[in-house]
Amino acid sequence: MKTSVAPSPISLRVNGRNVVVVADPQTPLLYILRNDLELNGPKYGCGLGECGACSILVDGRAVRACTIPLRAIAGRDITTLEGLCTEDGLHPVQQAFIDESGAQCGYCLNGMIIITVALLARNPDPQEADIRDALRHNLCRCGTHVEILAAVRKAVGLCKAAAIKAPTAGARTATPEVRA
Ligand code: FES
Repeated sequence: MKTSVAPSPISLRVNGRNVVVVADPQTPLLYILRNDLELNGPKYGCGLGECGACSILVDGRAVRACTIPLRAIAGRDITTLEGLCTEDGLHPVQQAFIDESGAQCGYCLNGMIIITVALLARNPDPQEADIRDALRHNLCRCGTHVEILAAVRKAVGLCKAAAIKAPTAGARTATPEVRA
């Protein structure tokens, strides 16, 4: 049985901003992102690490925010869907999903985009099998798979053109903000 721990301040770096949250260190990161930091890109789907709707990047690698406790993430670079775009506009992967109508209800889209960004950071020129393999654990219940695959293929070209590899969330610094 899980026992709760007294709330304590934990420093996070999210989308290039330093924040301090006061919470039970066992709290799933997804709850902190959505409820405390109002970052609603990551979605709550299954809460069990199975569907991928809650995916985020931690130090450039995709992880499920619903199963990772707050205590495990202190001091790491967290990037959510909101952190992918810059002052210049959307990340090319986001643009590709819009261009190819990669969403129907859109609930899975956060995970599909985050997984694609992580894929292209480690393999800028993936083959069809690589793309399918990377996305195989992300669920889409609308059946938009054809458009999603087309979006990823388009994202490959757009990312090459923009020479974008991975978000550099550490580029900015800020005074820590405390959220209780
Ligand atoms: Fe996290 Fe489904 S909500 S994997």
